[in-house]
Amino acid sequence: MDLKKTIREIEDFPKPGINFKDITTLLSNADAFRYSVDAIIKDLKEKDVDLIVGPEARGFLMGTPVAYGLGVGFIPIRKPGKLPGEIESYEYGLEYGTDTLEIHKDSIKKGQRVAIVDDLLATGGTVEAATKLIEKLGGEVVSIQFLIELEFLNGRDKLSKYDVNSLIKY
Ligand code: PRP
Repeated sequence: MDLKKTIREIEDFPKPGINFKDITTLLSNADAFRYSVDAIIKDLKEKDVDLIVGPEARGFLMGTPVAYGLGVGFIPIRKPGKLPGEIESYEYGLEYGTDTLEIHKDSIKKGQRVAIVDDLLATGGTVEAATKLIEKLGGEVVSIQFLIELEFLNGRDKLSKYDVNSLIKY
């Protein structure tokens, strides 16, 4: 299936010069959505995953159906101040300034096999932060799955020690 055709590209969003990849048109296409989720599930099936972790917000959209399909639990990574329990947080650098992501401290047990699912690999900063949080809790990152990879941003370089898979490449 040509998934690229189901993604809408929007020029100059959110800033001039950026060609935004809008996944809402893939999600609203029943065949494309099912095909994408099934492809990720297929790749993860043999990896003996205990948990799926997805970063807010678009990581929830892809991560939760994958977890459901695999029959494993889903753990959200959220932007600051959203999780009610005890949290672990990780601050990482952006082009200008920093960002922080948080996870519930008790969400992953030592030695659990975790796969990260997100919609998009751009610079890799978000998912690199997710790997740090998971490993801080004692989890093992056994796979990282993206719907879209922006290859020209070389985000994979930050994730070179992991199994990384993406369905659509630009
Ligand atoms: C987007 C996207 C990824 C991340 C990729 O999320 O969903 O999580 O950016 O960028 P990176 O590889 O450079 O870190 P965003 O922070 O825009 O949040 P959203 O999902 O809530 O829209």
